[in-house]
Amino acid sequence: MTLGSLLLAGANWITVIAGKLWHRGSTAERDIGAASALEQAGTLLFRYPTDADPCIAVRTPEGKLVAYSQVCTHLSCAVVYDRTENALACPCHRGVFNIDQGSPVTGPPTRPLPRIKIEQRGNRLFATELEV
Ligand code: FES
Repeated sequence: MTLGSLLLAGANWITVIAGKLWHRGSTAERDIGAASALEQAGTLLFRYPTDADPCIAVRTPEGKLVAYSQVCTHLSCAVVYDRTENALACPCHRGVFNIDQGSPVTGPPTRPLPRIKIEQRGNRLFATELEV
């Protein structure tokens, strides 16, 4: 079981590094949805820079708009917004990421979530850059 966990962690690490190298500094622009939908729900799920890359945008209680890859940097489960804690939480192993920087706060993750730059133009939101 320990060997299996190590192999899984190693495969995850290789996938994350390869993905970062592949998409490093990606500046392709993508329309990710209506700003009104984000304001209504508080979060917006989207894909960036490709359809295989799940991301989450959050309007924080302080009014900041932040967006991150939804792929946990531990073993790739999907993080979700925890409004009570104002943090991004991973349900798999209880990893928690700071909402302002995406940095790990508690749990097994040691690397921050990749951040996505968002621009609002009228009622549309655009992902413009993947920061790794
Ligand atoms: S996969 Fe997210 S904490 Fe383990």
